[in-house]
Amino acid sequence: MKWLLRFYRSSVGKKILMAVTGLVWVVFVIEHMAGNLLALKSPEAINRYAAFLKTSDEVLWTFRIGLFVALVVHVDSMVKLTALNWTSRPARYAKVSYQAASPAARTMRWGGVFLLLWLVYHILHFTTGHLHPDFSHTDVFNNVSVAFQSGGKVASYAAAMVALAFHLYHGVWSMFQTAGANHPHVEKPRRWLATAIAILIPVGFLTVPFAIFFGIIG
Ligand code: HEM
Repeated sequence: MKWLLRFYRSSVGKKILMAVTGLVWVVFVIEHMAGNLLALKSPEAINRYAAFLKTSDEVLWTFRIGLFVALVVHVDSMVKLTALNWTSRPARYAKVSYQAASPAARTMRWGGVFLLLWLVYHILHFTTGHLHPDFSHTDVFNNVSVAFQSGGKVASYAAAMVALAFHLYHGVWSMFQTAGANHPHVEKPRRWLATAIAILIPVGFLTVPFAIFFGIIG
């Protein structure tokens, strides 16, 4: 147990935990995006899939708790690494500028905060239904189809997917850095993979809102 605490307290340990917990969420968003695409097939297909995910309360809550813990560890490591970064660079106090963080790191932090707030909104919108005008616990297709009649909703989801694209790009790239895959030979494939993930996942997610808004499905 002590070694685990020591690991968590070290900055390398926090970087590894950020990478691992980030990867957990990357796997989740790939699965979530693929599931959402079933809406293009038929309302029954996505509703059946959603019902399947809720077959067992134990499994559902194990996944939910796992995702929540991964998110808490991810954010906590980020906050502590940022604090470490700031205290170890006194130059920041001499001149109020952004010397302590690269533009990519700043985008990650503020984009991450935005995504976190959006995620709270998203769960209240589509999971609990508190922010949905016509929510059904069993008809997921109805929930998305009502929501994305509105251009404002489509735009707000599109903004979140742009933030997700930036976060995924730098996150996947950093994951390789943490794993030590930073040799010049792997620089190109690493950028390609980060770019592919950063484009394919948000575009996949946005297919359904746009298809509903333009009347292709719904
Ligand atoms: C256009 C983009 C997205 C759409 C249309 C969408 C749609 C949905 C819908 C309909 C649900 C409820 C599913 C159900 O009750 O079975 C849901 C749940 C959820 N979504 Fe999304 N989603 C999008 C993007 C995302 C992204 C990018 C993330 C993560 C960063 C995310 C995280 C979640 C989570 C955590 C849940 C709750 C899952 C649970 O029941 O525990 N979603 N989403």
